[in-house]
Amino acid sequence: MTGRLEGEIALVTGAAGGLGSAVVRRYLAEGAKVVAADLRPGPLKELAEALGSPAELVTVAGDASDWETSKEMVEAAHRAFGQISVYTSCVGVYDHNVQFSEIAGDQLGAALLECWRINVGSVLVNLRAVLDDLAATRGRAVLTGSYAAHAPGGGGVLYTSSKHALLGVVKQLAHELAPKVRVNAVSPGVLPTVMTGLGTLGQGAKDAVLPGTEQALPLRQIPTGDELAGLYVTLASASDTAAVTGTVLVADSGLLTRGLGSPSGGDEL
Ligand SMILES: NC(=O)c1ccc[n+]([C@@H]2O[C@H](COP(=O)([O-])OP(=O)(O)OC[C@H]3O[C@@H](n4cnc5c(N)ncnc54)[C@H](O)[C@@H]3O)[C@@H](O)[C@H]2O)c1
Repeated sequence: MTGRLEGEIALVTGAAGGLGSAVVRRYLAEGAKVVAADLRPGPLKELAEALGSPAELVTVAGDASDWETSKEMVEAAHRAFGQISVYTSCVGVYDHNVQFSEIAGDQLGAALLECWRINVGSVLVNLRAVLDDLAATRGRAVLTGSYAAHAPGGGGVLYTSSKHALLGVVKQLAHELAPKVRVNAVSPGVLPTVMTGLGTLGQGAKDAVLPGTEQALPLRQIPTGDELAGLYVTLASASDTAAVTGTVLVADSGLLTRGLGSPSGGDEL
């Protein structure tokens, strides 16, 4: 049986992260050739080594929100494989739920710029660099939203506003880039990863999952990246979602359905 991404050339950013590395593994398993890009060269190298450094994988280390790096990613794909047909972003920084009142006024501008530059800006500059390829291949962009793209309380105002903006990118570019390019996203709820905080606020990397989260989820289950990777394959596939653009697959363990009483609607069955 052939893989669902046989013949596809994918650029995956945030590829060394918890979710991104799972997507890279799954794309390769489904037959794609992959350019894996991340800011952190060490974990990127470890990912390639753990996969046995296959010929179908090349890595690019650099800041995805930078235009020159974006062009390098595309050039790396051209040198190794050919034109990119799938762009997937798993890049993200978190604000670790910092409350608005806790951010000093003179830090706010820089913190907002950092959060939005990485969570939203990287997607725009990458997509601009890869646009000709995607148009030529009738390509697909699969972005990463969040529960925080849909509702409050999944982060602080910096992260929540950046993820809401990402939905604006999905909708506007799905509109502008049709009929040649489809643009969709996956919105995870909670993932067991260690997320980088905002350097401008002096935040380090911390667990994304808070104690007690599992019990607050209607499905009482925190998925791994591997359990979400199939959703990316579905949206990246040329045939399985041929009529789908401008949409978001919400994979939040039911958080958006949570009620006032118990996490699920009534008594547990
Ligand atoms: N972990 C969660 O609970 C959760 C929930 C909802 C949504 N998300 C989203 O899922 C995505 C993946 O997050 P994760 O949980 O795997 O976190 P992660 O920190 O493991 O992965 C994010 C990756 O992005 C990379 N990155 C950060 N800034 C970059 C830059 N400027 N250029 C290139 N790479 C950069 C990091 O090095 C890291 O490898 C993010 O968009 C995040 O917002 C995560």
